[in-house]
Amino acid sequence: MSAFPEGFFWGAACASYQCEGAWNEDGKGPSIWDDFCHEMNGKHVKNDDTGDVACDSYHRYKEDVALMKQHNIQAYRFSISWPRVIPDGDGEVNEKGLQFYENLVDELLANGIEPMITLYHWDLPSALQDKGGWLNRDIIAAFGRFAGIVASRLKGKVKRYMTLNEPQCVAGGYGGTHGAPGLGLGGEKVAQVYHILCLAHSEAYRAIKAVDPTTIVGAAICGFFTYPEKDTPENREAAYKANFDLSSDQKPWSFTPNIFLDSLLLKKYDESAPAVVRKFAETIDPSDWEKMETLDFIGINVYNGDMVNEKGEYVKRYPGFPLTACKWPVTPEVMHYCVLNMHRRYGLPMVITENGQSCNDRVHMDGKVHDPERIDFLNRYLLELKKGIDEGAPVQGYLQWSILDNFEWSRGYDERFGIIYVDYRTGERIPKDSAAWYAKVIETNGECL
Ligand code: BGC
Repeated sequence: MSAFPEGFFWGAACASYQCEGAWNEDGKGPSIWDDFCHEMNGKHVKNDDTGDVACDSYHRYKEDVALMKQHNIQAYRFSISWPRVIPDGDGEVNEKGLQFYENLVDELLANGIEPMITLYHWDLPSALQDKGGWLNRDIIAAFGRFAGIVASRLKGKVKRYMTLNEPQCVAGGYGGTHGAPGLGLGGEKVAQVYHILCLAHSEAYRAIKAVDPTTIVGAAICGFFTYPEKDTPENREAAYKANFDLSSDQKPWSFTPNIFLDSLLLKKYDESAPAVVRKFAETIDPSDWEKMETLDFIGINVYNGDMVNEKGEYVKRYPGFPLTACKWPVTPEVMHYCVLNMHRRYGLPMVITENGQSCNDRVHMDGKVHDPERIDFLNRYLLELKKGIDEGAPVQGYLQWSILDNFEWSRGYDERFGIIYVDYRTGERIPKDSAAWYAKVIETNGECL
């Protein structure tokens, strides 16, 4: 295949709670994920797994960075644990926490790897949750302050930030019970969380720009993505409409990509918004809309999508459809169309901030970890991404999820998403076949695909 555009960047991602461990070291405060996991007896997390130790990256980050370098990784997206930096969320700063992230950034830079920071990947300081968390508007200022503190410390070293990871899942922690805080509240509260997340993004955006206006600030979103059954203009149109439809009885509005992005970028809800969202919208102070900031790029986390026919109906998957280890469908076409659809709606540059699959990886008799399914998955998705880019979608880079096997939230350690295997008994890292394959993809800027 022809190479990806010049300047396209390749990297990998992870998140603080999923890999750092050191949950109560060096002054770190507790987070809602610490609390969620520590409520055991199989209540929330498979096997009662916790992120207490995880990959121990807090102590082993130099080894991890060396492995990244060895595999040609150009950019590393990681998140900052808010309670490591500000233990209670809005009070005193924990110097040791900030120092850890500065050390990590320095190590990356020394190895020629660009640090890309996510400010919030779900590990909210427990003290803020006690005050209502993302339902309390006080969090907007607290998040802005946190963003400003991090940006000041890393000024001149970090160029790219993402304020939030997957607002869809943050809101899901309030509407559902599978992720922290797991409150299972009704739709109007979920809409309120989204609105506050938009204002918090905006506050953080301004705080980071105030420190350094040249910084690039986005957010990483997820949600349902569609692709057409047939590649006809009619079917493309139907898939586009279905992707942003908030009234579908098959796909809840609360997990669409646009429930968050429309507020920020279009400053309104889509006209398909259901009654519960419209009812919440009536309570919004009009001045809130003026506080909404843009994004310099949209980060998209893409794992799978749904096929839609020319009539705009979801197409049932055939029996025996390809699935990953965690039973997610393998639908590479989603890459091609999601970047086109997102570009058509918002017109902004994009980065694929996550993409990958979990496999039942294990160490084979030869001492290596062979993961042909992952290589096949990434290869297929990247070929489809290239089609979207060739049709004009401005995608600047691609980050594989994940550099290491890590704590996969309520599924614990059973799911392995890494291109580097982690033996959780010893902390040993073993690069999988996919790591060598990905190194080659990066070296050839995708030409070898
Ligand atoms: C999240 C990651 C997670 C991955 C795989 C995304 O929803 O941002 O934290 O590990 O998907 O489930």
